[in-house]
Amino acid sequence: MSQLTLALAKGRTAKDSLRLLEKAGISFPDFDEKSRKLVFFNNDRSIKMIYVKAVDVTTYVEQGAADIGIVGRDNILEAEADLYELLDLHLGKCRFVVASLKDIPLTKGKTIKVASKYPNVAKRYFFRKGITVETIKLNGSVELAPIINMSDCIVDIVETGSTIKENGLTILDDVEKISTRLVVNKASFATKTDDIQHFIDQLKVVLEDNE
Ligand code: PRP
Repeated sequence: MSQLTLALAKGRTAKDSLRLLEKAGISFPDFDEKSRKLVFFNNDRSIKMIYVKAVDVTTYVEQGAADIGIVGRDNILEAEADLYELLDLHLGKCRFVVASLKDIPLTKGKTIKVASKYPNVAKRYFFRKGITVETIKLNGSVELAPIINMSDCIVDIVETGSTIKENGLTILDDVEKISTRLVVNKASFATKTDDIQHFIDQLKVVLEDNE
């Protein structure tokens, strides 16, 4: 048995991911969200967990610094990383949408300014529609961009819908569904196949019980 390194995304879904792992028999007794520690081990030290920013999980996995990653599909789609996406953990369910202040026509001919934390996702969506866009990369509070006239629309995540609503924006289109996924480094999957498969199978049992 080889040691597996798991990169777990900090943030909204971290607690649910850890709860799912625990149900699958994978727990990190020394984990403490409030501590500044970044590396944790399970009881038999067969799994090393690194607790990292969600936006960085795919980088750790693609680089082979982590064998497995648990992260939202939003970050996976944006990163365009070369890795395997092997399991939907059915956590952190939300969606990518296009939204604007008013019902702007999403048509060809005019360059549309799009603000987003996910410029690659935005570019791909509008490219599929044949619409030329200029993307403005923001790191948060994206809903502000159309309000202060910095962009025509946004591509962002909607979970409860309250941020869109409270800022008077309208959803123009759904782009993609999002949930937390398990990703695997390609080389690791070839060299540590049995251990990774066992890890996935443990999670699958819990997921099937939840259905
Ligand atoms: C995310 C997203 C939306 C909001 C959607 O932002 O970018 O702004 O959550 O959630 P809702 O539909 O439940 O309102 P986040 O909370 O991560 O903060 P940020 O704006 O600083 O990126």
